[in-house]
Amino acid sequence: MSERYEKIDIHWFPGHMTKAQRMIEANMKLVDAVCELLDARVPCASRNPDIDRLAAGKPRLVILNRTDLADPAMTARWREYFRRCGLAVLETDAKSGRGVNNFPRAVREVLRDRIAAYEAKGQGTRPLRVMILGIPNVGKSTFINRVAKRRAAAAGDRPGVTRGKQWISIDAGLELLDTPGILWPKFDSQQVGEALAITGAIKPEVLDTEALAANFMLRLRALKPEAIEQRYKFTPEADKNGYELLADAAKKRGFLISGGEYDIERMARVLLNEYHEGKLGRITLEAPPEG
Ligand code: G4P
Repeated sequence: MSERYEKIDIHWFPGHMTKAQRMIEANMKLVDAVCELLDARVPCASRNPDIDRLAAGKPRLVILNRTDLADPAMTARWREYFRRCGLAVLETDAKSGRGVNNFPRAVREVLRDRIAAYEAKGQGTRPLRVMILGIPNVGKSTFINRVAKRRAAAAGDRPGVTRGKQWISIDAGLELLDTPGILWPKFDSQQVGEALAITGAIKPEVLDTEALAANFMLRLRALKPEAIEQRYKFTPEADKNGYELLADAAKKRGFLISGGEYDIERMARVLLNEYHEGKLGRITLEAPPEG
């Protein structure tokens, strides 16, 4: 089988990381619990293990978001994996809102001991505060707006506009910080950076889209060849490289450029977009460790 994966360079700016880290540290003091949003298609790559240090001592909830795009059987395996690691898990599709209603209950469960401790001290009315954390584009703002049932989360920094910290009341005594904590992606391998780029956490304009899509074709052939067969109407042959598979798809789509060449660049964009839109089916790219 041809497994010639292309090398893809992905960078994350250290300045952005420092700023994000400072913001998280400042807000961490104010919250009782942290909720870590992950992309259910790449729960490992979309996770930054630095959270263990940043959220040390805080009760935590893992939210597997984008379950609408992930393979349900794999999501169940990831849920069990995180539970085995001692973490509470919630599954959501923040875009449609599925699963979001279970959020207050899940947070209360995570904060059970803290609630009991406050009650024992006669501080039962003290609000419990939570922060949403996650890497860019994982769905933090969408999730917060769903929980708040309005547009609460700021879509980005607006220069010149300063406003006080705002807390969104999500349930009796539960409050959510309206600004999510941005975790920086942790590129400790090519696989991680590539998984994030394929799922759209890193914007394609800074990437070699063709190389990325060629690698994605190889991953698809290994993981779920029937997705290629069903969507692009050809059987991915074992001896072809990723570019050749893209060319086969372009041929089926009739994507031609002058001179009778197939338009691989266009096909690369189409492939990645169709994956983002769920048109290839629900495909999870990573499996949890066994055990
Ligand atoms: P962020 O704050 O973490 O950076 O992410 P944000 O909420 O801006 O979400 C990024 C994109 O992911 C948005 O799409 C959003 O709609 C989409 N999204 C969030 N949660 C889910 C989910 O559970 N399932 C699916 N399928 N998509 C989700 P967009 O294309 O940037 O905007 P839009 O046109 O979809 O609103």
